[in-house]
Order: sequence, then C-alpha cells, then structure tokens
Amino acid sequence: MKFTVAIDGPAAAGKGTIARAVAAEFGFAHLDTGLLYRAVGVKALERAGGVIDPIAAELIAGSLTEADLKRADLRTTLASRAASKVAAIPGVRAALLRFQHDFARRDGGAVLDGRDIGSVICPDAEVKLFVTADDARRAQRRHRELAAAGSELTVAQVLADLKARDARDSRRKDAPLTRAPDAVLLDTTELSIDCAVAEATALIRARI
Ligand code: C5P
Repeated sequence: MKFTVAIDGPAAAGKGTIARAVAAEFGFAHLDTGLLYRAVGVKALERAGGVIDPIAAELIAGSLTEADLKRADLRTTLASRAASKVAAIPGVRAALLRFQHDFARRDGGAVLDGRDIGSVICPDAEVKLFVTADDARRAQRRHRELAAAGSELTVAQVLADLKARDARDSRRKDAPLTRAPDAVLLDTTELSIDCAVAEATALIRARI
C-alpha cells in the first residue's frame, strides 16, 4: 500500500518532531529530507575548502550514501547554512529527486518532511501538512536545541540565521518553500508537542 504524508514548513517549526512521531504511530518509514541537503552542503564545503562549487555539489548529490546521512556534524549552524545554499542549485535538487520519489512510494507508508514535499516531490501525497510557528518561538526552540549541543550562540543570532535561511529558501526559483494549496496549516506557536502531534495524527487517521 502506498500512503504518503508530506510535511513542509520553515526551519524549527516542529516538522521533524511531528514527522518522527506520526511515523512511529502508524509504522511508516520517515525521511528527513533536510538531511540530504545538509550532507551535500557539508561535503561540498569540505571539497572546495569553504566555497561551494555548484558542479561539485551536483556530483556529490548524485553519489550520496547512507553513511553521509549519518555524519555527526549535520545539525550545526554551518551545515544549515551550507544546506540552504546547495538547495538553491537546480542540479542538486534534480539529483536528489529520484531517491525521495522512491522513498515516498515504498510499500507500507512513508512520511517525508522538508520544504517542497507537498508542492514538488509528492504532489499526490495522501496527507499534506504545512507546519509553521512565529519567528520568536522558532528561534527560542532552535536556540534551546543548539545550546544543549554546546553552542554559545544567542537567541538573537539564532533568529537572524533562521530568517536568512527562510528568506533564501522562500525566494529561490527552484522549488521554493511554499504551502501547497491543499496542505493543512498547523501553527505550532501556542501548541505543545503533544497537541501538535495529536492534531497531525487525527488528520492522518481520518484519511487512511
Ligand atoms: O529541514 P532542515 O532545516 O534540516 O533543512 C536544511 C535546509 O535544506 C533548508 O534550509 C533548505 O534550504 C533545504 N531543504 C530544501 N528542501 C527540502 C528540505 C530541506 O531545500 N525538502
């Protein structure tokens, strides 16, 4: 049985947490598509000594392995920035398309979270969610995560970084961050994780 759940939204809105929870609830496979771009970004930075070369990034995207996705340094601010830079390169997006398509069509159900899942990767997904939250709340949440991992960035620095990334993700020509017309909006600004997950779960259950 094919059943795809597409979850999109800006950084730190809660997509990943919701995606992991609903995948566990329904026994679906989960793909955090941001990791694909993070892995390409980090490798492209290493390869070029700090400056991203579009052709090199495209080649890296075409030969990405499972091991690349398990690197421990994919959650850093440097990796986030590099990810959003390589994500604007059409050749990189094209190279990552097949993997995401195949994942979405696997038997037994799949949850993919990212920026363009409902709009470009899986326009025929059975359930589409667009998860958002206000800027200050997203910055607070991401700051807490980064601080727990040893980062000394301030909330203001994290906020500036999120905004720069959102702007780059929303303005790029190829597959920008956008809410698909048929995606259900879930604003998590005032919602606890449990409530947000409960809403997403109810929506999926109603469509299975
Ligand atoms: O979701 P996450 O913050 O890990 O994504 C990192 C970056 O990867 C995003 O800022 C965005 O530029 C890019 N991305 C994308 N399309 C996706 C998932 C992530 O362009 N489907």
